[in-house]
Amino acid sequence: TKADIVIKKLAGRIGAEISGIKLTANLDESTVQSIRDAILKYKVVFFRNQQHLDDKEQEAFAKLLGKPVAHPTVPIKDGSNYLLELDSNHGGRANSWHTDVTFVDAYPQASILRAVVIPEAGGDTVWANTAAAYNSLPEELRNLADKLWAVHTNDFDYAKKRDNVSTEQEAESRKVFTSTVYETEHPVVHVHPETGERNLLLGHFVKQFVGLSSFDSTHLFSVLQNYVTQLENTVRWHWNAGDVAIWDNRATQHYAINDYGDAHRVVRRITIDGDVPVSVDG
Ligand code: SIN
Repeated sequence: TKADIVIKKLAGRIGAEISGIKLTANLDESTVQSIRDAILKYKVVFFRNQQHLDDKEQEAFAKLLGKPVAHPTVPIKDGSNYLLELDSNHGGRANSWHTDVTFVDAYPQASILRAVVIPEAGGDTVWANTAAAYNSLPEELRNLADKLWAVHTNDFDYAKKRDNVSTEQEAESRKVFTSTVYETEHPVVHVHPETGERNLLLGHFVKQFVGLSSFDSTHLFSVLQNYVTQLENTVRWHWNAGDVAIWDNRATQHYAINDYGDAHRVVRRITIDGDVPVSVDG
């Protein structure tokens, strides 16, 4: 029942742990509403001890939050309809700051990530609050960002060499990831369709700002992106197998820390369909 739900805030500006809920497809509407409200308020929420979930049940639960959508290029995991598996032995190390799948027009509104295999030490994930990032900008930068648009693509940045990923793995995952090249433009500041908050929309799929050279884009990107990744705007989660994280993909970026060498890490993700982002000018 609703009375058993405990929501514990984890950091000053983002993140909460929810206990007292077993995630299943049969949750009542008021519990689902509490989860939705918490996602909007805390941007990322965490549930421990959800070992009962298998791939099918993760999908069934995800449907309570919206319409699941498969990754546009990476084949879904065998036996599932929407699951993206990130396996560290196959290049699945998302160790760079991003919002999921921003290279399509209507990118996912939320992601539900389940930890399947977790290293003995390391492999934490960090999330950042992109509304807090916007609010921390000085007025002059806010005014600049409000007017900017950025080009997002999946065929960018993945060329960069990552630790503990062999050249063959890198080439293989890049080939799959970019099997169809997507490119779109999004406002750098978007108004969240549910909270009305302004959010910085950046991350590693940004190739360039519209109207700026790639040189100027690179510099301005790091100025703005630094406000997102500022530690005050973040929360870090130390996983156990069976944990689930759900984030508002319209209000966050995340980074999977690649500090576990050859140890094995496997997580499975379902994303929920979202809307085309809207700029401050509507
Ligand atoms: C992701 O980037 O969606 C996965 C994050 C993680 O592996 O912790």
